Amino acid sequence: MNILGIHAYHDSSAALVRNGKIIAAVDEERFNRNKHTGDFPRKSVECCLNMGNINWDDVDMIACAGSPSSAIIARNFQLDFQRLKEASTLGDINKLTVKDYLKSVGKSMLGKTDKLSLAGLKETAALQPDALPDYLTLPQIPDNARIAFVEHHMAHAASAFFTSGYPEEDTLLITADGIGGRKSLVVWQVQNNQIKELYHVGGNGSLGWFYGMVTEGLGWWVGDGEGKTMGLAPYGDLTKVPEEALGAFLPRYEDGLLVTPYEFGVPTTYQEGSSYHWHFKDSEKIKTLTGAYERADIAARAQDLLEQEMLNIIKAWKTKTKAKRLVTAGGLFLNVKLNQKIIEADIFDEYFIFPCPGDNGLSCGAALAAYYAEHPTSRSKQIRDVCWGPSYAPENIKTLLDDRFLDYEIVDDPCEVAAEELANGQIVGWFQGNMEYGPRALGSRSILMDPTKAENKDIINAKVKFREAFRPFCPSLKIESSNRFLTVERPERYMITAYRVREEEIDQIPAVVHKDGTCRPQLIEKDIYPRFWDLLDKFEQKTGVPVLLNTSFNIKGEPIVCNPREALRCFFDTGIEVLVMENTVMRKKKRI
Ligand SMILES: [Fe+2]
Repeated sequence: MNILGIHAYHDSSAALVRNGKIIAAVDEERFNRNKHTGDFPRKSVECCLNMGNINWDDVDMIACAGSPSSAIIARNFQLDFQRLKEASTLGDINKLTVKDYLKSVGKSMLGKTDKLSLAGLKETAALQPDALPDYLTLPQIPDNARIAFVEHHMAHAASAFFTSGYPEEDTLLITADGIGGRKSLVVWQVQNNQIKELYHVGGNGSLGWFYGMVTEGLGWWVGDGEGKTMGLAPYGDLTKVPEEALGAFLPRYEDGLLVTPYEFGVPTTYQEGSSYHWHFKDSEKIKTLTGAYERADIAARAQDLLEQEMLNIIKAWKTKTKAKRLVTAGGLFLNVKLNQKIIEADIFDEYFIFPCPGDNGLSCGAALAAYYAEHPTSRSKQIRDVCWGPSYAPENIKTLLDDRFLDYEIVDDPCEVAAEELANGQIVGWFQGNMEYGPRALGSRSILMDPTKAENKDIINAKVKFREAFRPFCPSLKIESSNRFLTVERPERYMITAYRVREEEIDQIPAVVHKDGTCRPQLIEKDIYPRFWDLLDKFEQKTGVPVLLNTSFNIKGEPIVCNPREALRCFFDTGIEVLVMENTVMRKKKRI
């Protein structure tokens, strides 16, 4: 059974799930090169079908995150009202009405519906199938392919639970983000593969909006800059900002229930390219705080407030449900410091965070929710990696370089060559195998460097990533060595949680230890990432350190590279010194 998962808004993506297994999943931004794109995931759909070796006739179901009244879905799949009306829904979604349909189609055709009569809308909708040129439409969905719509937070919940491998019993699910489907935080349990909601709040309880609003007040984009707020926080002193100065903007919970909402108002949404930005009116009030307090101190206070509030919510629901395991997803759980606090609180036997907790994970979630709803006896299967994107054959890379008259070398052992270059202090672009899904480079599209020299962090920030000096870098390390550097008892595979670095080892890997003595590690297991493990092993043989600085293969503000052409562009446009794509190696002149 082939289920195509679709998310067609901020951070749009597509996924292919076959018999409950994720075969392919890709972010549209990697193809259209517009970070956080909200475009319909047209290229991602094509990629998923290619990776699954199927065509449209083989698709049994299309599972869309969100509502049937989504104009972007109706238009791109050329769905008429009857088809949408017959679609199944999972979660708290109202059935589509004729009015909804006409409004959505009319809106997407003409931009505005305000002045259109129902008759006018009908006329517009009737024209719809032929109204788009061929190159803007996907092939018609086969008649036998069913369509399902999965509520936004339910798709988040499904993405995490059905990839955790946890049993239903004693497992608590929490999803939290800015907002999605009019909800910002939902508490769930699972019974017979049906995800059941226990509690939810709307925008006025949104911890994600609180953090986003602070981020905007500090001068960054909502929905993009939250990681910067988190990265800046350890440089600040939260005690310099009175709790009430920022706490006044924070929705408050007691016993896991919202008791003091904060009226954020409706955020203004506007588009830049195909990506969306949001503006909160009260961000101006936070901006004025930057006149009284250092930005880092404000970030530190905001981070602390977020952690305490969320932790209290989680503890309360742990008490109510007596759950032994926790599963989370939603953009709020991109906050690795929050995840660290949840783990350190040690209140659950196990804790799983979906590696793509943001909205790009919704395509997987929608497809998984649809699959498991129809297969109540199937059990959640733990994923081991997220390399679900396209790969490029070595011979195609060779042809690409030949066509551009570029000098390169083909090597038998790219790990040996890269390890030698890294040990000699070079910055290496590392392009191997299937691209990662979601926000992290995990050894398929990575920029690597020696972590043993503190100055390497500044060199990469300044010469390659072109980003703020306070932004930290993450380590990838052999799992066998994790206890030497960290106190971690989980196979931490996705750089989704921060950990304290053992004090006596900080000097060994200073370029990947943040200001507060933590790092966001990826532990490499030989059977999951054989080539990356081999590279780390060879680097260890040369330096004694089984760790590499691993940052995503892109520059600030751009999506991670997807194909070899983009890797070439990034290589020539930055201070990357060596590019290893599969078994080809290119070098610039030596910096040192
Ligand atoms: Fe979301």
